[in-house]
Amino acid sequence: MERNEEYAPPGIDVGTPSPARIYDVFLGGKDNFAVDREAAKVATDAGPDVPRAARENRAFLGRAVRFAVESGITQFIDLGTGLPTQGNVHEAAQALVPDARVVYVDNDPIVLVHARALLPPSDTTVVIQADARKPAEILGNPRVRALIDFDRPVAVLMLAILHFAEDEEARNTIAAFRDAIVPGSLLAVSHSTVEGHPESGGEVVKAWRNATVQIHSRTRDEVTALFEGFDLLEPGVVWVPEWRPDQPGEGTRWMYAGVARR
Ligand SMILES: C[S@@+](CC[C@H](N)C(=O)[O-])C[C@H]1O[C@@H](n2cnc3c(N)ncnc32)[C@H](O)[C@@H]1O
Repeated sequence: MERNEEYAPPGIDVGTPSPARIYDVFLGGKDNFAVDREAAKVATDAGPDVPRAARENRAFLGRAVRFAVESGITQFIDLGTGLPTQGNVHEAAQALVPDARVVYVDNDPIVLVHARALLPPSDTTVVIQADARKPAEILGNPRVRALIDFDRPVAVLMLAILHFAEDEEARNTIAAFRDAIVPGSLLAVSHSTVEGHPESGGEVVKAWRNATVQIHSRTRDEVTALFEGFDLLEPGVVWVPEWRPDQPGEGTRWMYAGVARR
């Protein structure tokens, strides 16, 4: 059953589409409202395979977490967590390393409402409400510092979030985390682009035009440049489904992905 505005959690603005809830629509979730569904329809009318791109992005999250664990990393900071769905970072990581630690960060209050309901207090997982564009507040948060040992490698995930930031904001956030993590740490990024759909991309991004924040499409070169100060790992910045796929095959061309080592 779809959410009814009457039953919105207190403090949630049901009159403005939110990126977390629009993404929830694409993933077939129930934690969205009429304005989010209308916004999502603008995207799917112009790009019918956008929901598939969202699912492919979740699959990339799983591969990136597995790659980090295989690299010996057991601590994760997930910026722009989104609404809880299947295959969340702690599930993917703790399936491989039961005591893997995960900090979830999102600035949308609805994410916090649902994440706190679904994630009982734990020694291995914390959820904080913070703005990724203010990285010092995240890195200085006592709950983050208590959970994450910054003397050991950390995997920092910035999946489908940086396109909600201006160039300088994105650069500043990445630089702050780069400076906070030790060599051997990883940065995983996925990022929206209209490069794969010059004819319809402009219409698709209009879905976020009235949302709390708008989408900034970036080119492959611009996404690659975000990894400044890191060693970009093979295969570089590629379409999300092409980043070390479990099975070869054609995928969508709405998002780029890359993973780099500090
Ligand atoms: C498209 S969802 C991506 C969710 C998840 N990372 C994934 O890739 O499946 C983007 C999320 O980033 C969050 N977000 C956007 N801008 C943010 C910011 N400045 N600080 C923290 N979270 C932000 C949104 O609230 C939303 O939950």
